[in-house]
Amino acid sequence: MRKPIIAANWKMNKGPSETEDFLTSFLSKLGKATDKCDIVVAPPFVSLPKASQILHSHDVSVAAQNVSQYDAGAYTGEVNVLMLRELFVPYVILGHSERRSVFGESDEVINAKMLKAREVNLKPIFCIGETLEERESGQLEAVLKRQVNEGLKGFSEKDMLETVVAYEPVWAIGTGVTASPEQAQEAHAKVRVLLAELFGGDVADKVRIQYGGSVKPANAAELLSQPDIDGALVGGASLEVASFLQLIENGTNKGE
Ligand code: PGA
Repeated sequence: MRKPIIAANWKMNKGPSETEDFLTSFLSKLGKATDKCDIVVAPPFVSLPKASQILHSHDVSVAAQNVSQYDAGAYTGEVNVLMLRELFVPYVILGHSERRSVFGESDEVINAKMLKAREVNLKPIFCIGETLEERESGQLEAVLKRQVNEGLKGFSEKDMLETVVAYEPVWAIGTGVTASPEQAQEAHAKVRVLLAELFGGDVADKVRIQYGGSVKPANAAELLSQPDIDGALVGGASLEVASFLQLIENGTNKGE
């Protein structure tokens, strides 16, 4: 049984004081949700110390939204993996479509970041997904295969077991358009087959694959009840305490 993992990707929202306000309120209302799923919050870099300090005594983990592929040195504006470790940050989101499209990160760069993260035992949340154009021209499978094969180059079975994959169709991110549960399940099953080809069936069965792209309280139950959907990576709906809590509640109870 794979324990679901629900992660909040705040993108470029919430400085340290808003992070503190959110987390204080969130923790006071969370109850026993973490019995049923792992919860991760990914604030911007400047809010990581505050998030780490508040969450260290709680069962909620922190993620960075990016990291450099380089070690310390002359890389203006960058943050390296040891700096994240120093803040006790266990997860890092890599390969997000906004990093790919807005900041031009190639599969090769993403792979270098993935390998660098694993050097210090950071757990990647590795994002993949096709654009609408790619889907409509029948390239879904080829795109996922390329992103998986290139992004995970050099990964051992152990590295894979410490990685969470996030399938996020680009056309569903921040658009309000969600993949149907059937479309999402179909893509997740394909990703699991790709992982099995690289790492064997046992590893592929254990890796958690999140769905991301306009997940909301109203669609979380249906999406997370699909057999290969093991959680969610949530942008917009994670910015308000009430909606993120409701999404977690709906996603983990799945209409029970
Ligand atoms: P969204 O973002 O939930 O706002 O669509 C998801 C993501 O980009 O991870």
